[in-house]
Amino acid sequence: MLVWTLVATLLLSVSAQTPQTTKGKTITCFCDKCANLECVSDGYCYTSTRIDKETKQIEHDFRCLNPSLSHPPVKPLVCASTSASANFMPFAVECCDSGDYCNKHLRPLLHSKNQSGAGGKLIISSADEKIGDDLSTDTSLIIFVGTTVLVVLLLVLLVIYCGWTRNHKWKKQRPGALFKSNDSMDPQDQQPILGVNNTLRDIIDMTTSGSGSGLPLLVQRSIARQIQLVEIIGKGRFGEVWRGRWRGENVAVKIFSSREERSWFREAEIYQTVMLRHDNILGFIAADNKDNGTWTQLWLVTDFHENGSLFDYLSTRTVDIVGMIRMALSISTGLAHLHMEIVGTQAGKPAIAHRDLKSKNILVKLNGTCAIGDLGLAVHYDDVDGKIDLATNSRVGTKRYMAPEVLDESICENHFDSFKRADVYALGLIFWEITRRCNVGGIYDEYQLPYYDLVPSDPTIEEMRKTVCEGRHRPSIPNRWQSIDALNAMSKVMKECWYHNAAARLTALRIKKTLANLGASEDIKPPQ
Ligand code: ADE
Repeated sequence: MLVWTLVATLLLSVSAQTPQTTKGKTITCFCDKCANLECVSDGYCYTSTRIDKETKQIEHDFRCLNPSLSHPPVKPLVCASTSASANFMPFAVECCDSGDYCNKHLRPLLHSKNQSGAGGKLIISSADEKIGDDLSTDTSLIIFVGTTVLVVLLLVLLVIYCGWTRNHKWKKQRPGALFKSNDSMDPQDQQPILGVNNTLRDIIDMTTSGSGSGLPLLVQRSIARQIQLVEIIGKGRFGEVWRGRWRGENVAVKIFSSREERSWFREAEIYQTVMLRHDNILGFIAADNKDNGTWTQLWLVTDFHENGSLFDYLSTRTVDIVGMIRMALSISTGLAHLHMEIVGTQAGKPAIAHRDLKSKNILVKLNGTCAIGDLGLAVHYDDVDGKIDLATNSRVGTKRYMAPEVLDESICENHFDSFKRADVYALGLIFWEITRRCNVGGIYDEYQLPYYDLVPSDPTIEEMRKTVCEGRHRPSIPNRWQSIDALNAMSKVMKECWYHNAAARLTALRIKKTLANLGASEDIKPPQ
């Protein structure tokens, strides 16, 4: 519509301004508006048909068409036939130059879409527009200038919008490789990436070096579909976890049941947040949804860690002081990264809260450091509109690890820091689980879950609330910890993580720094 208006305006305004040559003879035309019902033209007579805007009746105008207002002068465009959209208000013109009053009996027909084959008829975009001697050069110019200004304005807005989205790239890329528009869907393009000698690490390094936001969709799908499932290694509320093999490498495959599609999608989405890749966050490899005809298989493929979860590890093994600090420092480093918002012009990362931190959701690597996994309940904070991205049900997660403000529902859900503080509370409980297993001189405590002595297994929210909120109980600190500096330091940190007053708790970043200092004093070497 805009383009058509522009073209029509240009034609008419050009015709109004171009010096014309006359045909050299004059003709008398019937003119309904003229004093003696006639006008003299050195070009054409015309009759136009239009629908009156007010009366909705068909009206005819009879006028002269002088070459000074027609272009080209010999066969004016306004008399030529053209097709136009039926969206336009119909307006038809028929010209003649066969003799005096030749237009008196002309009755141009109004056209609907694509009917404008008959000669001498034109549909113009608005019934308000007049041609011939009523045509106003000023009006044409105003429309022309107005249209141009509008187009320029739209371009400027487009440029501003592009600049804005560039500055908030993490947000746009958040859905990640599952839906990335720049993913090539051509399998040929994926071949060099999936070359026979490339390991998973090579592939990830090749494709995610800058943003750390995940592999392209087709690479993810190709990898997932080459995996052989070997053995089941865990079961959860979402489905099962399997050890799988991809070209001789172990991978962990979390298989979601069909009704957990939202959890699968959410976890894949969070893992593919730009710049999330980190040594202390479980490494994401691929997400795939495969329809086998009967149901949809939903896979989430991650790094495999043969030590299993921190819960598995601590249940059967002890750690020394260095191992304890290494584990605690790596978990707080991972959490600090998750919680941190990174602002950048090219890529940035939103602040993310985990909301289900516990020893079963942390993996132990071969070098004794840990990686935080199970991001399915995570939420992130949108710094642009100040919104937390989920319709949040505040009481999600594992009841045993719920912070007091989550248990009694006093948590301020509009304040993103509240979710981070609830994570820190859970981190304090995890430190307690680790520290109990710290073997100093052959002495250590048996493995126990937090509150093992105060609530039954699989406690209800009410049981937890009574213990944690009403009774203000916290896990007990064994006496032996007080006489060992590192254990004493750990007990101090965990107490500052599980304050009833969420605002008084340490931040993950503060914990990371404190433990790094403790590690330095214990002479911890960085893991190899
Ligand atoms: N159990 C759950 N996730 C796992 C993983 N990624 N590696 C090993 N064991 C796991």
